[in-house]
Amino acid sequence: MSLLRAATAVRENAHAPYSNFKVGAALVTPSGTIHVGCNVENVAYPEGTCAEAGAIAAMVAAGETEIAEICVIADSPMPVTPCGGCRQKIAEFAGPDVKVTMATTAGVQRVTTVADLLPGAFSQDYMENT
Ligand code: THU
Repeated sequence: MSLLRAATAVRENAHAPYSNFKVGAALVTPSGTIHVGCNVENVAYPEGTCAEAGAIAAMVAAGETEIAEICVIADSPMPVTPCGGCRQKIAEFAGPDVKVTMATTAGVQRVTTVADLLPGAFSQDYMENT
């Protein structure tokens, strides 16, 4: 199954009764395995989690730690971009050149890279004095 199709399918399972904004994310690892996630909101609003975070958690729980490519989709007027926090989460497991596809359910796509989404990402390099 393609990443876009996987993200589209898991989006249906999103728990988004507060925003009504369902998001699906799918990532593939170098092994070829696809991991998916959807946003999971909570009545205590800050406790909600993003689709990308769900896909990353599924990947790590399955014993993998490298994102080869990631895709996110929503019913948005323009391709949905990962939030700032998720950009950092993606950068934890993806190199700067990793492809990020952002899509709308209407079929519009924008392709970019992790480095373009998060220039100047915080990394372990900054902790070398510790
Ligand atoms: N959301 C995601 O899951 N991923 C994104 O890239 C953008 C935002 C979710 C969080 C919240 O459940 C809803 O979309 C509205 O912000």
